[in-house]
Amino acid sequence: MTCLPLSQIQKRLFAWGMAKANAADDHAIKLHDCQEYGTMADLKRSLLGNLQGTVLEIGPGAGANLSYYPTNVYWIGVEPNPFMHPYIYQEAERQGLNNIELHKGMADKLPAEDGSLDTVVSTYVLCSVTDIDVTLRDIQRVLKPGGAFVFIEHVAAPDGSCTRTVQDGVTPIWKTVFDGCHPNRETGMFLHDAGFELVQYQQFWLSIPIVSPHIAGIAISRFTAQAGRTVSENTEHSYTRQI
Ligand SMILES: C[S@@+](CC[C@H](N)C(=O)[O-])C[C@H]1O[C@@H](n2cnc3c(N)ncnc32)[C@H](O)[C@@H]1O
Repeated sequence: MTCLPLSQIQKRLFAWGMAKANAADDHAIKLHDCQEYGTMADLKRSLLGNLQGTVLEIGPGAGANLSYYPTNVYWIGVEPNPFMHPYIYQEAERQGLNNIELHKGMADKLPAEDGSLDTVVSTYVLCSVTDIDVTLRDIQRVLKPGGAFVFIEHVAAPDGSCTRTVQDGVTPIWKTVFDGCHPNRETGMFLHDAGFELVQYQQFWLSIPIVSPHIAGIAISRFTAQAGRTVSENTEHSYTRQI
C-alpha cells in the first residue's frame, strides 16, 4: 500500500467535505442584510442561471454551482485539487452538462486564449489564491472585451471591528487548515484596483462566524469601441457598489 503525504490526505478530505457540503440546500442558506436576495439559491440562480457561451469556473470544488448553469453552456473548470475531479464529473453528468472541460490548474495561469471567454466565475476561491492581483489580471486576459467576471466571496470585516480582530488573529492557522483560505482578505478592494471597466456588488452576511461578510456581484472587463457592447447588454443584474 502506498502512503499518501499529509497534504494529499488533507486534499482528499477537503474534496470529500466539499462534496458532502454540496448536499446542503442552498435554499436553506439565508442571506442577511441583502437588498435583493433571500437565500443563496436565489442569488446563485440570478448570477449563474442566464449565462451563455463559454464559462470558465475557477476552483469549482466538488461542483456546487453546476446545477445553476443552463445546460447549453460550454463549461471549463480549473481545479487544482485532483480529488475534486471525480465529484465534478459526477455532478456535471447528474445536471446534464455535456459540454465540459476540466483542468488541473491554478487560477493565476488559466488554460485559455486571450479574449476568448464570455464569463469567468469564482465562488469562494479568491480567498485562497496565492496572488490575487495576478489572478485578477489573468481573468481579465482571458475574458472577451466586455466579458463578465461573476463572483461570490467572503471578505474581511471592517477594520477595527471585533470580527476583523478575530479574522486577523486566526488567519495564520486558518489558511494552513483550510487549504490556503484567508478570512481577512480585502477582496473587494483588490477587485476595485484590478483595472476592470466596472465593478458592482452587494454585501451580505451569513449566520457563520469568522468568514463574513460576503460580496456577490460582477466585474466587467474593459471593452473596445469595436466590440460595441455596453454593460447593460452584458448583464441583467444591477448591483450596489459598497466600498
Ligand atoms: C472553499 S472551496 C470553494 C469551492 C466551490 N467554488 C464552491 O463554491 O463550493 C475553494 C476551492 O478553490 C480551489 N483553489 C484553491 N486555490 C486555487 C487556485 N489558486 N486556483 C484555482 N482554484 C483554487 C480549491 O481547491 C477549492 O476547490
